[in-house]
Amino acid sequence: MRTYSCAFALLLGAVAPSHQTNPSWYDQGLLGAYPSREYHSFHLPSPRLHVLEASDHCDQSYVFIEPRGNSVSDPGPMILEANGDLIYMEAKFGEAMDFRPQVYKGETYLTFWSGTDDGTHGHGSYYMLDSSYEVKYIINPANGLEGDLHEFTITADGTALMTIYEITPANLSTVGGPPEGWIHDSIFQEMDIETGELIFEWRASQYYRVDESFDRPNGKGKSQDHAWDFFHINSIDKDADGNYYISSRYMHTVTCLSPEGKILWKLGGQHSDFTDLSDGAASNFSWQHHVRWHENNTLTIFDNGAYSKYERTADYSRGLHVQLDLDHMTTTLLVAYVNPMHILSGSQGSVQFLDNGNVFVGWGYNAAYTEFSRDGKVLCDIHFGASAYFNTGYIKSYRAFRGHWVGTPNTKPDIARRDDGVYVSWNGATEVDAWKLQSAGHADAQDGDFSDVEIIKKNGFETKFLPEDIVGNFLRVVALGSNGEALGLSKVLDRGAGRIVEGIFEPIQDRDFVALQLLLGLLVFASFGFVVCARTTREPAVQLPDASQAI
Ligand SMILES: *[C@@H]1O[C@H](CO)[C@@H](O)[C@H](O)[C@H]1NC(C)=O
Ligand SMILES: *[C@@H]1O[C@H](CO)[C@@H](O)[C@H](O)[C@H]1NC(C)=O
Ligand SMILES: *[C@@H]1O[C@H](CO)[C@@H](O)[C@H](O)[C@H]1NC(C)=O
Repeated sequence: MRTYSCAFALLLGAVAPSHQTNPSWYDQGLLGAYPSREYHSFHLPSPRLHVLEASDHCDQSYVFIEPRGNSVSDPGPMILEANGDLIYMEAKFGEAMDFRPQVYKGETYLTFWSGTDDGTHGHGSYYMLDSSYEVKYIINPANGLEGDLHEFTITADGTALMTIYEITPANLSTVGGPPEGWIHDSIFQEMDIETGELIFEWRASQYYRVDESFDRPNGKGKSQDHAWDFFHINSIDKDADGNYYISSRYMHTVTCLSPEGKILWKLGGQHSDFTDLSDGAASNFSWQHHVRWHENNTLTIFDNGAYSKYERTADYSRGLHVQLDLDHMTTTLLVAYVNPMHILSGSQGSVQFLDNGNVFVGWGYNAAYTEFSRDGKVLCDIHFGASAYFNTGYIKSYRAFRGHWVGTPNTKPDIARRDDGVYVSWNGATEVDAWKLQSAGHADAQDGDFSDVEIIKKNGFETKFLPEDIVGNFLRVVALGSNGEALGLSKVLDRGAGRIVEGIFEPIQDRDFVALQLLLGLLVFASFGFVVCARTTREPAVQLPDASQAI
């Protein structure tokens, strides 16, 4: 009986509009852990989004994420339109972190870290791409150190702030470790981007005792190969007076440093310098990320409230906006930004104040981002992976941002023929307004030999010309800007052969495969219903190996 009513509820759930109390097919994982869209003219699939809340009051700028994890076959930086359409994605850098637009000397660059990570620290470099997506700068820390994945921030002075980990000897006897032990010291550097000159360097081990950590060695710290991460720096910010604000995940502290590196105060952790007028709510954050300083002595913090799904201090993660009174050394919680599903992310995450006054929260370890009004009301809530797979690490994005970007790639637009039409796209091009299809009678046609066939408005990442509208044997497209000006020209497509002239043959997709996928989907759905109904918790319906990371 229970099974029948449950199956019925499930069916209702599938037809009713999606809502978190009535999980959709998407969130149950019936479309896969990481539902994606494929393109004909572009080789990488981009995520399909699940919109749980939408509002006209949400910012319309682009979304910058860096999906990665077991379900993400092509990790890398990604830009989406507000409506979820793909603008840009790139797999050639491998996994990227902290991807966002930043201004350097009046120009906007796409910046990110790329390299390898050991689960908690990164070994790599910082990249700055110009508006044509060319790598303009590759930045490495000074003194032969490697760039860590957590932070790459460009300051108004044209310097860069970056996190670094270095294995260093330390006496760990006070925390049950060896007296001649090893730690991952947390370091940050400020560097002049143009000259590479080191301006400032700070080391946590010179200012913090190891026993102030909320973590314990538990067998680590005995050798250089198994050093203990006692501090875990994961963000750096700098104010107009030259003070630095650093986040330590394992100390549960935000530390303000003078321009010389002296500790001015600590918020949170074992020795907070502030009286919490909100009964603890402003300073009892734990395992937190992405601390930012704002005018009027306020801070934003992504309070994870958990180290992993097994080790939690809170019931859910919170974006925090916290007021500090530096005369009286008191703190007050202004607003907590909480996801309607009460997402608890054991690692990663970000909080961004937007130009329109809203607040944008990326949930890090879980594939979701949410836009709130400043006072904490949910305006837009979006999943880019199924919530059934939350807390598995299958799809995650270290941080998520909104921002403005103008991309004019120095590649050519892509064109592909399929049985049902001709498809065009141009990865990274933000200024295309319409596509003009042109045709010619022979393969080596010159510009003058092409005649215009049709102009259609750009429609999402990929735009389609219907077969009945296509004449001529050799086709190309012109990307048009908003004033009708030509922005780019594709290669020539031999329509009969379905290949680019002087290009590589692109096989037509097997349509039967789609039918097979549908059938499999139905089978999975049928068996899934029972599994879902047999469970009462919000945990993933299928028990998955934990890909937990403490980043
Ligand atoms: C390590 O610290 C302990 C406790 O402070 C101290 O007694 C011991 O002498 C130190 N050992 C070394 C090798 O520095
Ligand atoms: C933080 O403090 C608030 C207010 O007292 C309390 O409701 C909340 O449970 C505390 N959270 C943790 C993780 O201790
Ligand atoms: C700072 O305070 C002023 C005066 O109260 C207010 O107008 C302004 O909006 C505040 N700024 C922020 C970011 O809250």
